[in-house]
Amino acid sequence: MQYINQSLVSEIRQKFCNVNTCPISGDRIFFENAGGALTLKSALETTTKFASIPDNQGRDNAASKALNDVIKNAKSDLSALFNTQSGEFFMGESGTELLFRLIRNAVLASPSGGSIVGTSLEHPASRSAAKKWSDEMEYTYLSVPHCVKTGTVDPKNYASKISDTTRVVTIVHASPVTGMGTKIKEISKIVRQKAPSAFIVVDGIQHAAHGGIDIKSYDIDGYVISPYKMFSRHGFGIAWVSDRLRNAPHEKLDGGPSDNWELGTRDTGAYATMSDVKEYMCWLGKEFTENNDSREQIKAAGAAIQDYERKMTDALLHGLDNLKGLADFEDVQIIGGLSNSSREGLVSFRIKDYPSEKIVRYLNHQGIRTHTRKCDHYSENILTPLGWDDCVRVSICHYNTLSEIKKFLSCMAAFRDK
Ligand SMILES: Cc1ncc(COP(=O)(O)O)c(C=O)c1O
Repeated sequence: MQYINQSLVSEIRQKFCNVNTCPISGDRIFFENAGGALTLKSALETTTKFASIPDNQGRDNAASKALNDVIKNAKSDLSALFNTQSGEFFMGESGTELLFRLIRNAVLASPSGGSIVGTSLEHPASRSAAKKWSDEMEYTYLSVPHCVKTGTVDPKNYASKISDTTRVVTIVHASPVTGMGTKIKEISKIVRQKAPSAFIVVDGIQHAAHGGIDIKSYDIDGYVISPYKMFSRHGFGIAWVSDRLRNAPHEKLDGGPSDNWELGTRDTGAYATMSDVKEYMCWLGKEFTENNDSREQIKAAGAAIQDYERKMTDALLHGLDNLKGLADFEDVQIIGGLSNSSREGLVSFRIKDYPSEKIVRYLNHQGIRTHTRKCDHYSENILTPLGWDDCVRVSICHYNTLSEIKKFLSCMAAFRDK
């Protein structure tokens, strides 16, 4: 098979919980994947199984040893999922908490004086951490402006902000407001030319569900995801740190292993769900490659997801069958424009001079879940430069269908005709 077709989508949907129906509000189409992706049924089963086991890790009994093995196995699966050959994965409270922790420890491990460089495209999680710790350390905080027209950041724009006293650089892998991805490899190459020993920390939270994470090729020091946005569940975050950052001075228990970043007992079941995510990606990848290597299968799944999601967002923008696309409606404006190769499964739009929350409410009544992004501390970095007060965010994933897109477009057509 060359691409995800609607018959494979049906099989894919069988693997997830609450695909058509919300357990609270009833039937709905889920276009709120940037708020939290659907959970794999296998991750739910795994969670239930491990939640009932009272044993702790690191004891001399069979149950405890089995838990240790599950975590070891999950770390090896994470390594295949994200393509790492060094460094370490560990778990924290959330993606936000881990971004704070990585940035804080990277700053505290750096020489005094210098700067932290981030971009205006970032979510406040990494930007707030970088600004706070640049204040604490009396560093200068420098922001690389994103391009308002394309909704992403041009790697070249990092160059003028980087110097030999740049200590930490933060990058977002995809924006949850514009939906556009960034070129991590190109940015880190530019950073390394002038600041080879800066710590580079990447927020991969929005990108993770959209396929194609390849940490080995990025030359970075930290990568963070929120597993509930990658087919697992709420309650924890996962970070990867390079050997250099792992071995740098960091918060840890006195007398404990010097390379351990985990603070307190971990939820074995949470780790185990990441093995379910890896198994799922391999299962999907086998539809597209005959290679038995799991990394090759994960890569093939990622490429198929990207291809499928592009077709879906193109349909949203340009229409399908005889249905108009968003771009065809009068007064509809779309963040990042109509043919943007950086788009990752997300379209944010507004109807000029019309409150977006009314559109989101209308769609909700039609059984379609989307989300309003307002000019608050989460989205003002994107909306203020556009001169917008708000937008409607439609965020899809590879388990959504073309018939769901059609329902959305026909509801929008009915809305415009009102
Ligand atoms: C790019 C990005 N960074 C950080 C976050 C914060 O993630 P969490 O709330 O899971 O900590 C989000 C959540 O939407 C996000 O999209």
